[in-house]
Amino acid sequence: MFHAQVLTLFPEFFDSPLACSIPKRAIAAGLVSVEMMQIRDFATDKHRQVDDSPYGGGPGMLMKPEPVVAAIRAARKRQPDTHVVMLTPSGERFTQAKALDWIEKPGVTLLCGRYEGFDERICDYVDEQISMGDYVLSGGEPAALSILDALIRLLPGVLGSPESAVLDSFTEEGILDWPHYTRPACFEGKSVPDVLLSGDHAAIAAWREAEARRRSERRNKTNQKCAE
Ligand code: ADE
Repeated sequence: MFHAQVLTLFPEFFDSPLACSIPKRAIAAGLVSVEMMQIRDFATDKHRQVDDSPYGGGPGMLMKPEPVVAAIRAARKRQPDTHVVMLTPSGERFTQAKALDWIEKPGVTLLCGRYEGFDERICDYVDEQISMGDYVLSGGEPAALSILDALIRLLPGVLGSPESAVLDSFTEEGILDWPHYTRPACFEGKSVPDVLLSGDHAAIAAWREAEARRRSERRNKTNQKCAE
């Protein structure tokens, strides 16, 4: 079984998404366990304080090192081989390649921050720092939830058809999925490409491959333009 742990101030954030659809079935089937750990439980002062103002001044509050590091240590004690990931907009971008790599590990621990971020010294206690993209979330929780979902659907036995995960967008590095169509064959004047109705499997495969490459090139160009 793959063991996921989440260190968070808001464990309830995950309740309903994990109680739906694929994650729900995977948990019920014993293919994955997801343990929530409340960071505040590791605060030892009388107010159970988990945040404080930044040295040098400036707005916002930072996650304090003592409770966060104590929570990381507890997570490593529970799951000695866990891969500890800090969610932060300054981390490396999460990718399908990372998801495929992480599911080979015994489990992951996802560390979610709130406020303006973490005290920098906490970085020394994690294995990797990961961002969901170049935008700022109000905390690491939505990022952790996306990662959990991406991992769970890749676990052996989770998806109905073993080909589905293999055929995903991005499974081949940087290549997007091809366009898909279902009934009706004509919707508001928009027709399904003839080749898909032809029954010619080789022609369909060639069309899909070409469309996937065309889409990927187009998106890479758009992304490059945005990065300039
Ligand atoms: N916390 C806040 N913004 C984030 C992002 N983009 N990725 C991961 N964690 C975050």
